[in-house]
Amino acid sequence: MGIIMSDFLDLCKKRQSCRGFSEQPVEHDKLVQCVEAGRLTHSGCNAQPWSFVVVESPELVAQIAQCGQQLNQNAWLGSAKAFIIILEEHAVLSPVISCFLDSQYYAKGDLGAATAYVCLEATVQGLGSCIIGVYDRKKICELLNIPVEKQFGAVIALGYPLNDTIRSKKRKAFEDIVKFV
Ligand SMILES: Cc1cc2nc3c(=O)[nH]c(=O)nc-3n(C[C@H](O)[C@H](O)[C@H](O)COP(=O)(O)O)c2cc1C
Repeated sequence: MGIIMSDFLDLCKKRQSCRGFSEQPVEHDKLVQCVEAGRLTHSGCNAQPWSFVVVESPELVAQIAQCGQQLNQNAWLGSAKAFIIILEEHAVLSPVISCFLDSQYYAKGDLGAATAYVCLEATVQGLGSCIIGVYDRKKICELLNIPVEKQFGAVIALGYPLNDTIRSKKRKAFEDIVKFV
């Protein structure tokens, strides 16, 4: 049987990296919804190794945008209207599992999942989102009063998309990445 579209697959297709936001501000309640989706994410041992910083004050948003414009990348980031920064927190694993594994063993995967949930909920809310991979972490910590040793799970830029045409996904072919045995 082939792939049958579902509401969730539709949402996955609709979520796309947005690299240009309109002047329309983002409602506080929509950012709350996005964080709620992150909070509900599954995690190894339910350790929930995350916390969320929502940047919505225009002055701080502009400053964080500058921190993401490293190496002449992401010039469009100046149009972002909000950021959600996901921080890595200490994970408490069950005693049995922590005998074998470092406490942060699952954290990166958990943070990735939370990042995806935030972005998917942003799509449901009609917002555009883009995860930013290159940024001045120390400067962001300074601006937001975050301890400088804190590791980041993700920096997500948000706003209303300037262009909401859905692009087709550039992905490896289904047959090339799956094996049914
Ligand atoms: C960890 C991570 C870092 C990323 N960093 C950037 C970035 O700095 N700038 C950017 O324009 N896109 C960035 N992206 C977006 C990817 O380029 C994008 O997800 C990928 O090309 C697939 O396209 P789509 O999100 O539109 O489906 C990042 C994505 C991830 C997951």
